[in-house]
Amino acid sequence: MEPTTITLHTRFQVGAVDPRIFGGFLEHMGRAVYEGVYDPTSAHADEHGFRSDVLAALRRLNMTAMRYPGGNFASGYHWLDGVGPRDRRPTVRELAWQSIEPNRFGTDEYIRLCRIMGWQPMITVNLGTGTPEEARNWVEYCNCPPGTRYADLRAANGSPDPYGVRLWCLGNEMDGPWQLGHVPADQYAIRAQQAAKMMKDADPGIELVACGSCTTGLPTYMEWDRVVLEYVGDLADYISLHRYVGNRGGDTADYLAVTNSVDRQIEEMDAACRFVQARRRSKKRAFLCFDEWNVWYKNQETDGGGKFAPHLIEEVYNLEDALVVAGFLHSFIRHADVVKIANLAQIVNVIAPIQTRGDDLLIQTIFYPFEMFARRRDGHSLRVGLSGPSYESKTYGRVHFLDASAIHAGDRLHLFLTNRSLDQTASVRVDVADREIAGLLDGDLLTGPDARAANSCEQPEVVMARPYSEVRIASGKASLELPPLSVAAFTLRLT
Ligand code: AHR
Repeated sequence: MEPTTITLHTRFQVGAVDPRIFGGFLEHMGRAVYEGVYDPTSAHADEHGFRSDVLAALRRLNMTAMRYPGGNFASGYHWLDGVGPRDRRPTVRELAWQSIEPNRFGTDEYIRLCRIMGWQPMITVNLGTGTPEEARNWVEYCNCPPGTRYADLRAANGSPDPYGVRLWCLGNEMDGPWQLGHVPADQYAIRAQQAAKMMKDADPGIELVACGSCTTGLPTYMEWDRVVLEYVGDLADYISLHRYVGNRGGDTADYLAVTNSVDRQIEEMDAACRFVQARRRSKKRAFLCFDEWNVWYKNQETDGGGKFAPHLIEEVYNLEDALVVAGFLHSFIRHADVVKIANLAQIVNVIAPIQTRGDDLLIQTIFYPFEMFARRRDGHSLRVGLSGPSYESKTYGRVHFLDASAIHAGDRLHLFLTNRSLDQTASVRVDVADREIAGLLDGDLLTGPDARAANSCEQPEVVMARPYSEVRIASGKASLELPPLSVAAFTLRLT
């Protein structure tokens, strides 16, 4: 393969990388909460009932904003069911996933978990079957000082100090006909506007995410976003977008090109935000909150059959999926000026980088790119000038074999590279136009025996990241060779 040249200039910045693009998502679904983060019966349970082995693995991902409690679950959830003495909390039928919800884990447990993990709480209110007032009451419960009903309830439940939850989502996927309480855009917009007003009246310091189009596939795509943004107006700080992708056609080259369409989805949603801002002649521009994203296509088990903690969508990930996860992260970094929050969906068992089996824990392939990127996230995203070989994909147009993103901070340059070639090594040369590359500080490389290779409890280390130091530095430039189907992340020192 012809070599690829990457040209950067430290002044050609896209924008500061918001650490919240390395967020996660914890839903009351399947075995994400129960048997995932929370399992008082596990040999690994700590004094709060959290699984210490799961938390130790999650800590390596260095996640930021943690969205909770759903997802589709949120649209049937009444938060008061999940607070107060555990033995008095109701067990309810959960309709989104046809499961049993005992409410053993609720707001207070979630906040405790966020504090232990250093996560920023991000709560999705129920705008499906809930009311704007119920949403406003939840803000009071979490954020107001004692002295009024719901703040006093929090204090009575053991937490006199407010939780200070800054990020709130105005419902979940309300454009989707599958959503409990789904309504047309104008009706959702009214509900969201009412909730937003009351929630900000309860705590003016919060930031709100309005529900945008959750897929590009619905006929309402873009029009939904226009209506919602126009109606909610300056009360919306962000609009959400979601994306789940997969290799349905069994064509790896095509699948790895899907990042083109992620770039495009971001740019289209941003265009909707700018269009509405212009029409409203507003100083305020809504930014993007990519609050669910991942690979999900193999396991479609979404019916819990009336059980507690059923095995739902426990996707097994392989090497090509890990490369696609890296592709999402490249795209978020390249769009750092507009994507301010993003949440990997989800964190354990349910379409997750980690799986539990009894007291065992498995690290899946997609864990590694997230870890490799999240360790090197501080700084400004740089425009990446890339010239090199490319191919025409069946579905997503032309892409370079090499996908890349870069973050710069002072004398450090973090570079992230994916070689999408199925069988060719990529020779890469890196040139920072206004600086000299002085050395390699550290690096990691993820690859595996073939595109479909996956880890299992029996063979847990088939696909994993390993330290990588094969970057040659000469005359202030760097060069390296990337094996086929691999992701590299490394930090260079600049003079
Ligand atoms: O993450 C699983 C589900 O996917 C979420 O509950 C929903 O929002 C999306 O459709």
